[in-house]
Amino acid sequence: MIADIVLGFAWGDEAKSKVCSSLIKENKYNRTMRFNGSSNAGHTFYLNEQKIITHIVPTGAVFNIRSIIGPGCVINEADFWKEIDHLKQFNHDILNYVKIAHNAHIVQDRHKEEEVGETAIGTTKMGVGPAYRDKYARTGIRAESIDSFKGLLIDVYDEFYKSKEPITLLAEGAQALGLDIDWGTHYPFVTSSHCGVGSLINNGVPHKAIRKVVGVTKCYDTYVGTRAFQNILDPVLDKLADEGQEYGATTGRRRKTNYLNVDLLVRSAQMSCATDIIINKIDVLRKVNVWKVLKGNSILDLGSELSFVNYIRDLLPEIKFVFSNNPYTI
Ligand code: IMP
Repeated sequence: MIADIVLGFAWGDEAKSKVCSSLIKENKYNRTMRFNGSSNAGHTFYLNEQKIITHIVPTGAVFNIRSIIGPGCVINEADFWKEIDHLKQFNHDILNYVKIAHNAHIVQDRHKEEEVGETAIGTTKMGVGPAYRDKYARTGIRAESIDSFKGLLIDVYDEFYKSKEPITLLAEGAQALGLDIDWGTHYPFVTSSHCGVGSLINNGVPHKAIRKVVGVTKCYDTYVGTRAFQNILDPVLDKLADEGQEYGATTGRRRKTNYLNVDLLVRSAQMSCATDIIINKIDVLRKVNVWKVLKGNSILDLGSELSFVNYIRDLLPEIKFVFSNNPYTI
């Protein structure tokens, strides 16, 4: 088995699914899998120039690849079916390709009801935290209990370890290491799932199968939630949000912006053994023409695009970098 994994290296919204769709086009994956999170994710990519947004369904399903919602995910039944109905306009047969791990947990309506109104940390209100809470309290229910999922259920162990064909998997991360329940930078301003490589292994993928770990970030940072994100008032940061069209794909909220936090980038790369890093939206930074990064509590002005690119490459010389325009394509 071979597994490539795409991970968010910042606070989500790094354009991971554009990277996933590009990897799908250039590799022969026969499985894709989501291994964490829920419909809190908003994954935007393009197929035949059509803009497609998925939430819990892996990108691969739109491309006719057998795609798994793994045991580490939590799923709301109604939101799942709504998403399938929406995605049928792009792939009429999508349901033939979507599988759900029998042991994935369910976001129940009562979980979503707990998040009506403002939530303290500014969640996506998809009931994600309450669903994971009940999973770990052993009071949750699993996908195998949902009648409408019956025809879609699989056992990931059988899928990966009893397969007659060699598995080539693309694992599609959701959220990001800066939002990880354990390693997120500002608990409690985090999501409730594990967003790193370890999560993939916990979803049943043998660690020896991992080939590429592709970290994705933008050349500036964004965050949605209630914590303060900018350490200074700087009109350039607002300009970045405007030029980069920084609005959440799930909630429509305007994203807070800051210069690229290189400490988090290095930590994310080290902790995931990244082989590749894609830094998106360099065209947006080019429009604003301010080449700054955040290191510790200082803002470093690197002066030019070339110095910016070289500075980042030198932080992690062993990793293959791509600095990409928006949208990312290979
Ligand atoms: P929750 O995952 O809905 O519980 O939200 C917890 C925190 O994670 C909030 O700050 C959300 O805005 C953030 N979050 C969750 N999913 C995403 C995402 O896909 N992109 C960006 N932020 C997210």
